[in-house]
Amino acid sequence: MGANEPPPANEKDLSVIKKCLFPVAGYGTRFLPATKAMPKEMLPVVNKPLVQYGVEEALSAGLDEICFVTGRGKRAINDFFDTSYELEHQIAGTSKEKYLSSIKEVITRAKFTTTRQSEMKGLGHAILTGELLVGQEPFGVVLADDLCITEGDSVMEQLAKIYRRTGCSVIAIQEVGDDDISKFGVIAGVEEEPGLYRVTDMIEKPDLADAPSNLAIIGRYILTPFIFELLRHTPPGKNGEVQLTDALLSLAKSSKVLAYKFTGKRFDCGSVDGYVEATNYVYENIYLKGEH
Ligand code: UTP
Repeated sequence: MGANEPPPANEKDLSVIKKCLFPVAGYGTRFLPATKAMPKEMLPVVNKPLVQYGVEEALSAGLDEICFVTGRGKRAINDFFDTSYELEHQIAGTSKEKYLSSIKEVITRAKFTTTRQSEMKGLGHAILTGELLVGQEPFGVVLADDLCITEGDSVMEQLAKIYRRTGCSVIAIQEVGDDDISKFGVIAGVEEEPGLYRVTDMIEKPDLADAPSNLAIIGRYILTPFIFELLRHTPPGKNGEVQLTDALLSLAKSSKVLAYKFTGKRFDCGSVDGYVEATNYVYENIYLKGEH
């Protein structure tokens, strides 16, 4: 917990993070028409849907309570993490049974809860909607359309390690080129340790001339529950949406937010180019090697 944050109402062990929020209510317009009747998070990268990669990453960091903020047309996500008795019965004892082993393991290890975002009022609003499921605990956030592949610790585990020793909210960042900077939230910060910055400023999707650095926020966060209070008082910003970046900046000003240049690769699977790149990478480096 940062210096000026109020103490939590109930004294839980705040070094333990159990919950991971998945805001999955977005329309995924960049993938139309594929996303007209199916959630973007169910798009497969080779043979696994994006959301499964995200949940596996949360589990790898010990976050086994998975909280979905869904919307209309997203039922397939809940069905996917449920047992499929008929299918499992059909292929039991055959050579095809192995294809279900990874999802069955996820279903065994994780617990799932869901709530719905009534209107698409932005990522900040989606996270505030998730307060009902998260409560007054620190929690992870995974944007499943950002696919992160690492050799060692997953990105969520890298953030969790920093959270456990600092107690501060931590966000994952990466360096991006000038052409891409206006697609991201961008931070300014003071480097306190190699790759670890104390955030001093943050701008959502800046023009290149206004960008405070080339350090862009990607879809992995660990947040303290005080963020909910800040989101409640965050007016709609760019595009009339409640921006998480605005609330994070308030948190950085009233308390301390860290940004970590994670180790690994990140693919923007919300865009067609990033999705194709991810598919090729996973096929060559994971699928063909049998590590799926
Ligand atoms: P995006 O900016 O990628 O929006 O949201 P989107 O609607 O999913 O996709 P495009 O831009 O129309 O193609 C980032 C993340 O925030 C979630 C999305 O599901 C995605 O994981 N989100 C966004 C919500 O849950 N609710 C919202 O109101 C907005």
